[in-house]
Amino acid sequence: MLKTPKNTQDITATGSAPEGTPESVLVLGVESSCDETAASVVQRSKDGQVVVLSSLVASQNEAHAPYGGVVPEIAARAHMQKIESLIAGAIEAADITWSDLDAVAATAGPGLIGGVMTGLLAAKGLAVSLDIPLIGINHLEGHALSPRLTQDCPFPYLLLLVSGGHTQLLSVDGVGDFTRLGSTVDDAAGETFDKTAKIMSLGFPGGPALERMAEFGNPTAISLPRPFKGKPHADFSFSGLKTAAARAFDKLGNTCEQGKADLAASFQQAVSDVLCDRTSNAMDMFTKTHTKPGEDPYRFVVAGGVAANTTIRGALENLCADKDFTLIAPPLEYCGDNGAMIALVGAERLLLGRVDTLNVKARPRWPLDMGSATQNPASGFGKKGPKS
Ligand code: KG4
Ligand code: ZN
Repeated sequence: MLKTPKNTQDITATGSAPEGTPESVLVLGVESSCDETAASVVQRSKDGQVVVLSSLVASQNEAHAPYGGVVPEIAARAHMQKIESLIAGAIEAADITWSDLDAVAATAGPGLIGGVMTGLLAAKGLAVSLDIPLIGINHLEGHALSPRLTQDCPFPYLLLLVSGGHTQLLSVDGVGDFTRLGSTVDDAAGETFDKTAKIMSLGFPGGPALERMAEFGNPTAISLPRPFKGKPHADFSFSGLKTAAARAFDKLGNTCEQGKADLAASFQQAVSDVLCDRTSNAMDMFTKTHTKPGEDPYRFVVAGGVAANTTIRGALENLCADKDFTLIAPPLEYCGDNGAMIALVGAERLLLGRVDTLNVKARPRWPLDMGSATQNPASGFGKKGPKS
């Protein structure tokens, strides 16, 4: 039951498929690390063609909205309630049978442990009953490779991963081959959007709500800091900006709609300026260590939930034009959490012969680049090692 592929890309940058690997694989991907339960079937061929056969996402926004943020216990329960029907739905929507699957991939971390365990255990059960390999996926690698779902995006590329839990700049040199160039020392960009939106009573999830409000505001109306702007490294800091926005909101009072819109626009502009300034430094680092792909510009990928923001995308597009990079961003449906990106990483790993045993563990913390995270953890160490 193979469908016409939509795009082609090269996976040989990190090695070739082991002997006996089928020409094309069908992988089920399961995602449950935060507040979206998702399942998807992706077909990936050895020569790099990808087709998303199905992609279902069940959002928990309504359940968390009264609290203005994700409540881990509510999230875990909602994942348990939805996971089975979502997986069955993804198989049905893909118009395949269970026995067509070559492997099952599930997010094994980082994320909220209750949710991660729910998805991973469901995947383990399927792997056993269908007698197919299990692949435990790093959620961040899902975001990192997400543009490869729909377009040519060969390695290497510079990645800005900007989500609710993470803000990092990484050099992506192959499947599982990442080097961190910078990361946040405190809040993630998405978290800052969410917290600022909560302070301003804009609703949940905060990022899209704040962006909608910002449409009606003047981005230069309120002066806000740009933390780390002009510093020579590529790290980020957002907590000072969040505090400054909270102070500005206090001064404004809750009743002035135009003032709220101006604050939203000014805040969004500040985040955008900071992301561009830090990315510009990372671009200089990346071009020093990577050869230019012939006549073509270097490649720059922005991925993760915040990549859905139009102002930020536009600013990054301008930066790319200045620095001789091409901007590659996944379509909006694959910016936020989804099962297709997990299925894709599973398929890429399966084709490289990198599968896991049933012992693979759910991990609340799991840096993409364990090496540099251990040596230089910008976000600090916890009892269980580098945070992210
Ligand atoms: O990647 P994602 O779906 O989940 C994580 O892995 O964190 O990202 C969710 C984050 C949330 O903080 C959300 O507010 C933010 O992405 N976000 C946005 C927008 N859409 C989602 N932030 C700013 N503007 C948006 N349009
Ligand atoms: Zn995510």
